[in-house]
Amino acid sequence: MAAPRFRLVLLLFLLSNVAYVAVAAPGSCSLEPFSSNRVYYSCSILSYLSSSLSWSYDSAASTLSIAFVAPPPKAEGWVAWAINPTGDGMDGSQALVAFHQPDGSMGVQTFNISGTTLTKGPIKFETSDLAAEYSDGVMRIFGKIKLPAGMTVVNHVWQVGSSVGNDGYPLPHEMKEENLQPKGKLDLIQGAMSLSQGSTTRNKNVHGVLNAVSWGILLPLGAIFARYLKTFKSADPAWFYLHVTCQIIGYGVGVGGWATGLKLGSKSKGIEYTTHRDIGIALFSLATLQVFALFLRPNKDHKYRFYWNIYHHLVGYTVIILGIVNVFEGLKVLSADHKWTVGYIATICILGGVALFLEVVTWFIVLKRKSDNSTKPYGGSSSNGVQHPLSV
Ligand SMILES: *[C@@H]1O[C@H](CO)[C@@H](O)[C@H](O)[C@H]1NC(C)=O
Repeated sequence: MAAPRFRLVLLLFLLSNVAYVAVAAPGSCSLEPFSSNRVYYSCSILSYLSSSLSWSYDSAASTLSIAFVAPPPKAEGWVAWAINPTGDGMDGSQALVAFHQPDGSMGVQTFNISGTTLTKGPIKFETSDLAAEYSDGVMRIFGKIKLPAGMTVVNHVWQVGSSVGNDGYPLPHEMKEENLQPKGKLDLIQGAMSLSQGSTTRNKNVHGVLNAVSWGILLPLGAIFARYLKTFKSADPAWFYLHVTCQIIGYGVGVGGWATGLKLGSKSKGIEYTTHRDIGIALFSLATLQVFALFLRPNKDHKYRFYWNIYHHLVGYTVIILGIVNVFEGLKVLSADHKWTVGYIATICILGGVALFLEVVTWFIVLKRKSDNSTKPYGGSSSNGVQHPLSV
């Protein structure tokens, strides 16, 4: 039934999917795996000093959460990120500065900068959750800053230096071109829209729809075709093509969905939906095994075909159950709108209802054939001529 040409098409299809996964590499914005589940909606690669800023802005509370990442020239150096409410350079900056404290741990302190004079102590904005890290030559500043309501565009300045004085004050940075340029305007809302918040939300929706349609609907539908159409002799071999078409489209779309999942996972380092991810990996592996096992399918009358069929059913039903479970896990992760969850439950109920109805019809037909056959004196082969619903 599965002619060589069909297998070739299948193989090409699989290869095109592998290419798709390879192309769907992680985006370039969320660069750092932040510790302690620190997640930010937006991030920007800053144009100087190999640094980046990730942030989330809560407009209701007018609170800005940031992660500033930069490599200091030396481990005993410092990195700083500041908002300047009065100008666009260093003068007037309200800075967060991170460096190794006398006890060796990393710490962040706030500095009010006036001219070139730094004053350690409170700054114009209330700060909280300040923390710093140093690893692999990179320092990170984390913190929350309460901004005046409505202040959604800020001038920011950043800097690095190579040493800290015994008094706990950072010593001046170098005067290279790179050190004189780092300043810019940050649009907390517009920047967020044009960077990853918009695209992450869209990616999550694309991921959700692709996977719900493929793993959650097409694959169960394909299984229904195989299990129930087969009973009708007139539907042979149509059921086979319907089944294969459904599963292949389902698998293809599912691979796309899986790739978007990988991309989302790599973008949200530090936050992990372990269950959803693990089920996703198991699902993809089993489904891929299932597709490749088609190439090993023994002929219909081969003695191993029976065992292949058992394997095919076991893996197939496992994939379907895991697929449905993972759609629900995904809906939870997305904290999806209630209507999506209800919509998916309704779809599954309809599929389940159709399957249940067909199950009854199938058994009715099978039993009827059986009783018809048993009235005949020479009632056929070992299988009694009855097409059992579980035979392929
Ligand atoms: C920061 O320094 C300037 C200049 O000395 C001063 O006017 C301002 O009040 C200081 N700000 C804070 C929050 O201490």
